[in-house]
Amino acid sequence: MNGAASGALLSVRDLAVTFDTYGRTAQVLDGVSLDVPARRHVALVGESGCGKSVTMRAIMGLLREPPARVTAGEIIFEGHDLLRLKPRARMGLCGTAMSMVFQDPMTSLNPVFTIGDQMRAILAHADRRLGRRRSRAERHARIIAVLGQVRMPDPERIARAWPIMLSGGMRQRVLIAMALLNEPRLLIADEPGTALDVTTQAQILRLLRELVQARGLALLMITHNLGVVREAADYVHVMYAGAVVEAAPAAALFAAPRHPYTRALLDCVPMLSGGGRFRGIDGAPPDYTSPPPGCRFAPRCAAAMPRCRTAPPAFPVGPDHRAACWLVEAA
Ligand SMILES: Nc1ncnc2c1ncn2[C@@H]1O[C@H](COP(=O)(O)OP(=O)(O)O)[C@@H](O)[C@H]1O
Ligand SMILES: [Mg+2]
Repeated sequence: MNGAASGALLSVRDLAVTFDTYGRTAQVLDGVSLDVPARRHVALVGESGCGKSVTMRAIMGLLREPPARVTAGEIIFEGHDLLRLKPRARMGLCGTAMSMVFQDPMTSLNPVFTIGDQMRAILAHADRRLGRRRSRAERHARIIAVLGQVRMPDPERIARAWPIMLSGGMRQRVLIAMALLNEPRLLIADEPGTALDVTTQAQILRLLRELVQARGLALLMITHNLGVVREAADYVHVMYAGAVVEAAPAAALFAAPRHPYTRALLDCVPMLSGGGRFRGIDGAPPDYTSPPPGCRFAPRCAAAMPRCRTAPPAFPVGPDHRAACWLVEAA
């Protein structure tokens, strides 16, 4: 697995994001580092509220600033530091070379335009940014082709439909089609299909994986479904309270998790094969306006040492199995 600065398609380094609200500053991301190699499937997992969506939005340039502020870090995509590109150049990449599959199929589509109109707008916008000329007929052909790729029956009819006429699963397929329209190299998906029933969600995830594999795309997927991660991801990053605390090839992470938080997370997965029972992780994530001075997990960690409460452990750089934990360093 290729990672780090050694040619990853996307490298996020020490990304820090704060939110200013009601006169208080919440340090929501505090040193997020992750790598997505070309043509690999990378999963980002972690409890709700740990900053996964903020990370995705920061990568895509979709944070509203203010209240958000990117205070440190780098987001390198295909050699460009996105945080230092001119807005126009950045916009030229986001939505084209990298694009996002949105989470909630019920609210991510505009109810007053047909699917075809919305897809045409995305294509026209990208064509303008890239200085590409395409006729209306060419755009229409592209839309029909992509709707077919996401296995929509009768794409012509779907293009003429309004979102209200489609089921949740079909709307999620439309959102995937929209993300594929401009032939991205990186697809970012934030818990796709979580608003759907489990069977439809499983179909959506399978479709997404097949599409990504067939096209040789990289996929960065947020999910809290560790079963899916184990089955499909090449590489996993585990986030806790605004930072990546462990990164590893998926098989290595499941075989021998190193960070106490990752271990606790894996213990939470109920075992269907009997014996296992569901346990939560004791305690709650920290208040982002006054996080603990050392490791952010220390207050919930049964193995915490005095040092863990005073100094934050560093997250080593590299492509292999890594954990930001004093225990691992001491081992
Ligand atoms: N616009 C915002 N203003 C203030 N705080 C925010 C905003 N968006 C997200 N946050 C905070 O950032 C933290 C991480 O949120 P998020 O990235 O959505 O978590 P996740 O996707 O991992 O569930 C949460 O505590 C949330 O309250
Ligand atoms: Mg989220």
